[in-house]
Amino acid sequence: MNSKSKKTKKNKNQKNGNKIVLSNLSFYYGDKLIIENVSFPVRKNAITSIIGSSGCGKTTLLKTVNRLYEENPLARMTGSVFFDGEDISGGEVDVILLRKRAGMVFQKPNPFPGSIYDNVIFGPRLYGVKDKEQLDEICERSLKQAALWDEVKDRLRMKALNLSGGQQQRLCIART
Ligand SMILES: Nc1ncnc2c1ncn2[C@@H]1O[C@H](COP(=O)(O)OP(=O)(O)O)[C@@H](O)[C@H]1O
Ligand SMILES: [Mg+2]
Repeated sequence: MNSKSKKTKKNKNQKNGNKIVLSNLSFYYGDKLIIENVSFPVRKNAITSIIGSSGCGKTTLLKTVNRLYEENPLARMTGSVFFDGEDISGGEVDVILLRKRAGMVFQKPNPFPGSIYDNVIFGPRLYGVKDKEQLDEICERSLKQAALWDEVKDRLRMKALNLSGGQQQRLCIART
């Protein structure tokens, strides 16, 4: 694809309010076809659910949006995924930056071994926020948005792994 046609595609995808567009997406683990030629748009500021039987490829499909599948050497995809109008399936994309924009919360909660506080501010700290007040503020706001603040505000230094399963799930949402 030359740069001109890429630009045209970008504008087209951005104009109609789509956050993500999957275009002729197929996915393989080794020789096994997991996703066959799927295309659909995901609108900005809307909730989209993908429904299907266990093992049909829902998680795999989500992993194409932040390229998490690349950790697996057997994984291969064809087609395109547009994120904010940009084709993120090519080699020239900064994957670290992409994952900053496309977070993922898994079915099985995966808190880091540290405290509740450390989990929530992991991202901002990694990206250089050092001011204690600012980190506290991010922590409170994120936990409130994930409806966990009231349950944990008096024990932010407790190990995250001591939370209940449902609380761990909300913690992972707050962290994302
Ligand atoms: N890392 C992997 N290596 C090989 N096959 C995998 C891997 N992860 C998932 N699969 C297979 O891909 C298919 C889709 O899995 P998945 O996307 O996790 O399904 P869902 O989320 O819809 O339950 C399943 O058949 C699963 O066994
Ligand atoms: Mg799944």
